[in-house]
Amino acid sequence: DVEEDLKPRAPIVTIMGHVDHGKTSLLDYIRKAKVAAGEAGGITQHIGAYDVITDSGKKITFLDTPGHEAFTAMRARGAKITDVVIIVVAADDNVMPQTKEAINHAQSAGVPIVIAINKIDKPNANPEKIREELAKENVLVEEWGGKYQSQEISAKSGKGIDELLEKVLLEAELLDLKANPKKKAVGSVIEAALDKGRGYVATVMVQAGTLKIGDILLAGAHYGRIKAMLNHKGARVKEVGPSTPVQILGLDGAPQAGEKFNVMESERDAREIANKREQI
Ligand code: GTP
Ligand code: NA
Ligand code: MG
Repeated sequence: DVEEDLKPRAPIVTIMGHVDHGKTSLLDYIRKAKVAAGEAGGITQHIGAYDVITDSGKKITFLDTPGHEAFTAMRARGAKITDVVIIVVAADDNVMPQTKEAINHAQSAGVPIVIAINKIDKPNANPEKIREELAKENVLVEEWGGKYQSQEISAKSGKGIDELLEKVLLEAELLDLKANPKKKAVGSVIEAALDKGRGYVATVMVQAGTLKIGDILLAGAHYGRIKAMLNHKGARVKEVGPSTPVQILGLDGAPQAGEKFNVMESERDAREIANKREQI
């Protein structure tokens, strides 16, 4: 890409952490608080990702995946989608095996971590103990002179969540995330399935370029001309740029999560490559 074609793009964030520490609650709170109501007729639906506008007017895209497994599966297929990982630790519990696993995953992928110490509304919450346990894992938070940003939050009341999002943005700023919106889209598959009535439906994350209706998309051993695109609010869109998740209709099958996609010049080229891949 020519330097002048590179434009800032929103960070893509994954939330990880131990069972019941509040990953879903945090995602749900952010979605409800920050996603503007869909356009008339649009049905808000689960598409595995969504983007929000923070109080400071900046966009953050969240991957709403089952966490570790999806993250690992995507990495195994070479997809590097996540820019920042939020690791949720419940303040009324401990740094647990899956907390450590999440730290390891993020660190070995070279993805910066922001710690969310959750459930601080609980009477038995002990955030200081969590900071201490994190230090034992070599995750020294800023308050303790370390490099890791952390924020006490309640996914129940919403306390601290705006501050958490600003810390995520700060982390993202250091990464200087850019993409060229002018070229043909490239990105990764988040999820795909056969839908009764609609055919194969895939949620993809556009990572660079612009994806348009009519484009011939190739992902793994599947391809097709894009018939329709829906954003996470269920609204039809004609084109989407970098760091945007979108549901697409028109593929001839369901590519696997983490599969990369390209836009091809012709249906014939796409078919040829897809057929070759199918034989492997
Ligand atoms: P898994 O997906 O099963 O790993 O769990 P999770 O990490 O998504 O946790 P989830 O959001 O399902 O929360 C687990 C429980 O903790 C639920 O009963 C939530 O209502 C509760 N919970 C989550 N966050 C908070 C919080 O900030 N305060 C309080 N009091 N309860 C919370
Ligand atoms: Na749970
Ligand atoms: Mg959950």
